Formats: sequence, C-alpha cells, structure tokens
Amino acid sequence: MSENREATGRPPAVRTLLRLWPYVRPVRLRMSVAAVIAIVASCLGLVFPLVLKWMVDGPIAHRDTGGVWRGALILLLLGAAEAGLFGLRRWLVARPLAGIEAAMRADLYRHLQRLPVAFHDRWPSGQLLSRGTTDLMLLRQFLSFPLMFLLVNGVTIVTGCVILLLQDWALGLLLLAPAVPLVILCSIFESRYALVARRAQDQVGDLTTVVEEGVLGIRIVKGFGRHRSQTQAFRALAAKLRGTELEKGRLLAGIWSLITTIPELAIGAALVFGTLRVADGGLSAGTLVAFLSTALALRWPVESIGFMLAMSQEAATAAERFFEPMDAREETDLPRETGTEPAGALPEAALPADSPAEAGLRFEGVSFRYPDAGPDAPAVLSRIDLHVAPGETMALVGATGSGKTTLTALVPRLHEATSGRITLDGEDITRMPRARLRELVSVAFEEPTLFSASAGENVLMGAGGEAGGADGADGADGGDLDRALDIAQAGFVRELPRSTDTQVGEQGLSLSGGQRQRLALARAVVGRPRFLVLDDPLSALDVHTEALVEAALRRVLRETTALVVAHRPSTVLLADRVALISHGRVAAVGTHQQLLRESAEYAWLMSGEERGGQAATVEPLAAAQPGATAEPARAGVGGGRPDGEEEDAR
Ligand SMILES: Nc1ncnc2c1ncn2[C@@H]1O[C@H](COP(=O)(O)OP(=O)(O)OP(=O)(O)O)[C@@H](O)[C@H]1O
Ligand SMILES: [Mg+2]
Repeated sequence: MSENREATGRPPAVRTLLRLWPYVRPVRLRMSVAAVIAIVASCLGLVFPLVLKWMVDGPIAHRDTGGVWRGALILLLLGAAEAGLFGLRRWLVARPLAGIEAAMRADLYRHLQRLPVAFHDRWPSGQLLSRGTTDLMLLRQFLSFPLMFLLVNGVTIVTGCVILLLQDWALGLLLLAPAVPLVILCSIFESRYALVARRAQDQVGDLTTVVEEGVLGIRIVKGFGRHRSQTQAFRALAAKLRGTELEKGRLLAGIWSLITTIPELAIGAALVFGTLRVADGGLSAGTLVAFLSTALALRWPVESIGFMLAMSQEAATAAERFFEPMDAREETDLPRETGTEPAGALPEAALPADSPAEAGLRFEGVSFRYPDAGPDAPAVLSRIDLHVAPGETMALVGATGSGKTTLTALVPRLHEATSGRITLDGEDITRMPRARLRELVSVAFEEPTLFSASAGENVLMGAGGEAGGADGADGADGGDLDRALDIAQAGFVRELPRSTDTQVGEQGLSLSGGQRQRLALARAVVGRPRFLVLDDPLSALDVHTEALVEAALRRVLRETTALVVAHRPSTVLLADRVALISHGRVAAVGTHQQLLRESAEYAWLMSGEERGGQAATVEPLAAAQPGATAEPARAGVGGGRPDGEEEDAR
C-alpha cells in the first residue's frame, strides 16, 4: 500500500493508541486493578533498601544476630509478596486481553465483509491478512506489557527518586542529573524508530501477499516452471524485511546501550562520592547501602523504558495499520442522493409495446469508470441505455474487455454507476436497501467461487437474505435445493461421498471447473429471484452438459427477467434479444438473427473465426455498411442512443 506507506503528517503515537479505548473500556476495571497491583508490587521492591539500611545501621552495627534473622525474614516475606502480586496481575489481565484481540479481529473481519468491492480491488489481501494477525498480536502485547509497565515503572521511578532525595539530596541530584539527556535521546529515538517500525510492518504485509499468491497460484507457478522467479521475488522481499529488522535492531541497540551506560556511570560517581562522605563521617554506612541499592533497584525500570517505548511505537504503527481499513467507508444502506438525471429519457415508442414503461430492468444513461482509474481515463461504460422487459432474457455479447462483466456488476451494486441510473420495476436500485436488492437480484459470475462448506450449504447461500440466520439458508428447504440442482444439472452432487453434505471449497473436495460452475448456477437460481444476472455461466461445460443445462435454464429464464453474458451462439439462443456491447457502449440491440444480418461485429463475434483473417471476411462487410450496426437497435427496442455516434463497426 504505497499510498499509505510513507505517510507524512502521521498522527502522534499517543493519539493513535487512544483510539483503542473503545475496545479497552469494557475491561477498564480489571486493567486498573491490575495496574494498581503492579504498582504496589513494584514499589515493594523499593522497601528492600530501607530494610537493608535498618539492618546495616542497627543489628549488623550492634552485632545483634537475632535482629539480622528478623531482617532476613522480612526480606523473604517482601520478596514472596512481590512475586505473588505480579502473578496476580498476570492472571487478571490475560483473559480480558485475549478478549480485546478477538473483538478487534471480529470487527475487522465484519468491516472487510461490508467494504465495497472497489476497496478490495485496491488492497492486496496479504496486507489485510497481516493487519488481522501480526498487527493485532502486537496490540495485545502492548496492552498487556508496555502500556501497564510504562505506568508502573514511571510511578516506581518517581517514588524511587523521592526516596533517593530524602536519603541524601546531594547524592540524589548527582544520580538524577543524567535524566535530562536521557529523555532527549529517547524522544529522538522514538521518532526514528516509528518510521522503521512502520516500514517493517508494511513489508510483512507485502511478504504475506507474495506467499498467498504463491499458494493460491501454485498450479500456474508449477505449470509454467516459475518456482525460481517466485522464490526470487520472495527472497528479495524477505531480504528487504531483514534489512529493516536489522535497522530496528541497530536503533534499539544504540538506545539500549545509552540507557544502560549513562545511569551506570552516575551510580559509579555516586559510589565514589558517597564512600568519601562515609569516610568523612558525613553519611552513615547504612544510608549509603540503602542509597545504592535503591539506585540499583531502579535500574530495571529505567532500562526497560527503552524497549517499552519501542514496543509502544510498534503498537502505535499496528493501531494505525488496523484503523486504515477500519476507516474506509462501508457500503451505506441509505438511499443515495444520485443527483444525476437519466441522460436522455427514452421515447415511449422505443419500448416493447406490451410492457409498462417502468417494469423490468432498465439502464438509463449509465456510465461507469473504475474508482482507481485516473480521472481522465476513458470510461469503461458510457451512456448505456437498455431495457430488459419483465420475463425477458437479454444476452450481452461483446469482444473481450468490452465491459460486459462490469455492466452486470452494476446491477447488484458491486460497483456504483458513476452516472445515470438503474431501475428494477421502476425503483432506483440506489434507493432500495441492499438486503432487498439482494433478494430481487441473483448472480453467478465467470469464476465460480465455492466456500469451505457443504455442497448444499454453498447452493443455499443463494436463498433468502441473511436477516434470519448466518447461513442464509432459511426460507429455502430441501425441495428448493433439489430443484436448483436439477436446473443446474448438478445432480453429480448426489453421487458425492456424502451427497449434498460433502464438504467442498478450499478445505474440502476439489471439484472440476464445470462442476463448480453448475453449483454456482444452482446457487443463483435457488432463491427464485425476480432478476437473474449471469456472467457467462456455461463457459466451462462440455457441449452435452451445456445442452442439458440450457434446457433447464430455459425453464428458469421463462419465469425471471435476466441479463446473461454470452460468448457462444448456443448461450445466445437462450435469450429473447441480444445487446451488442462494443467499447463500453451499446452498439446494437435486436434478435440474434437480426444482429447476425445487420452487424458485422456481431457476425464476426458469433462466427468464432480468427480475427487475424478479418480482412478476408469481416472488413468488407463492415466497410460496406458502416452505419448498419446500430440501426436496428433503435427500432422497436430500448437500447441504442439517439445521436447515432455509437457505431463501431471497425
Ligand atoms: N477492477 C477493475 N479496475 C479497473 N479496471 C477494470 C477492473 N475490472 C475490469 N477493468 C477494465 O474494464 C474493462 C472491461 O472489463 P470487463 O471485465 O467488464 O470486460 P468483459 O467484457 O467482461 O470481458 P470478458 O469477455 O473478457 O470477460 C477492461 O478494459 C478492464 O481492463
Ligand atoms: Mg467478463
């Protein structure tokens, strides 16, 4: 995600981390109790030096053995209490923290499901995966450790300093003097480390993407003998990540050595200065022992600050990465203010005579440009006017890349039309709740996707909305399933080892391309949708199965209003009319026979001949009747445009 990567003007780490509050809120009580316990435990450590002082100046100075034993017992009890309290703290936070991580992961997943397709087109899945795994783990570690211990150690350091100053203010000041340069160095370190940490986490995302593509595309990798280049790509990225991690290591080593050395020097100086004072008689031996052991007890809290700042910085980066997809806008369910009037409403005369003007599926002046395409890139679809009358089946035919799939994706609102509008029985699809739209429209795409579930569940996904249950299968029953399987000629499912309960998808049985297509088709028809959108649903079937599926489909299509992308004449014959899409425009609409006669491009597309030989067959035809293609479109049907510039006879 290069656009997010070298983010300039990053929000401060603290502000990013504060965004975690809604997740921490429910467990704030437990976390606070745990923090108080940790503070008490940590400050108990500072009582040791005071007991030592009492022992040195009291029982040891007076050779009182009983007193020494009493002192030792007190020290033992203090140690046990400290250990017990730290254990209690851990027990208190473990469960709520696991809960926070799970809640954040669930939120991310839920949000990703609701983000528009355009978002997923733009984001590599490895990046999303690493945000849902590595980054969330970093955040849990942060909440369990640095967050609490920055506080605990901060309090311990302040308390320790007060004790030091109370023991002997001159020695105390000598010891505290290096704090100023340390704070400055820490803040410089923090800002440098933030940049490197972000780079490392993004690189983990990139690496995940490469691994994922390599696994999903293993057939291509093997089929084309691409292991070496794939491995090289992986190695290069891994080396980059290694470099970044080493840089992190170097920064950490630098700050660590300063944080350790500077206080050590100060303790050394205090030791010399203090010993001289004891020799002078200005300081009791017990006070010096207490002083030095307090200083030593503060070493861990001070030293730990370096890497806890590093961990916090990583957590801030992880939070930033987590909230990036979370901040992307979900598909709204509210009616959209289109503001775009249909470009050129159709004359009534152009509509099929026997249907009311509004009924059926209508595209009115629909244009579309992919959101990530530049603003001056040509539109993928421009000013599409089409009317599929109720009960009618319209085939979409066009050269590859002409925009057929894009057009079908607009109906279930996988993408939003850039301008113009699409209506179902007169109702603008942007003004109806998505749930209703999904009920009305059912889809099957070129690449049939099956989920890791049983074959039956995969089909029943197409039945009813999600409102009633997670599996979406309510409202449909075994009868519907059987009917859908029959229509799609997917009877093979019944011969699978566990019939319709057989697991398919990535975690189950592998099905052939044609079998998957038939299941996807069954899924599309199981809910008896009013509108059916099929993107070349029969492409992977052999001619015999295709004939069977077509016969069954013909029955379904009779009951619904359908838009079917077709490449082969046999599929086209299922349709009542055909729209020829050429370079994102409707070039002609008519019956198959009409178009065969009147459109050179259509005749060529249906002939299956090599385009290389076009000069021989197509060109003369196209040249002979340059304006012929779109003419029938305007006669008697809703397609075509009045200005007559869509001719693309090539
Ligand atoms: N997600 C996307 N982002 C940007 N451009 C896209 C995207 N998907 C498709 N395109 C572009 O839109 C154009 C139309 O693509 P589309 O998939 O609609 O063609 P098609 O007619 O279905 O082709 P085919 O017959 O090969 O399936 C192509 O030029 C393609 O490069
Ligand atoms: Mg397509």
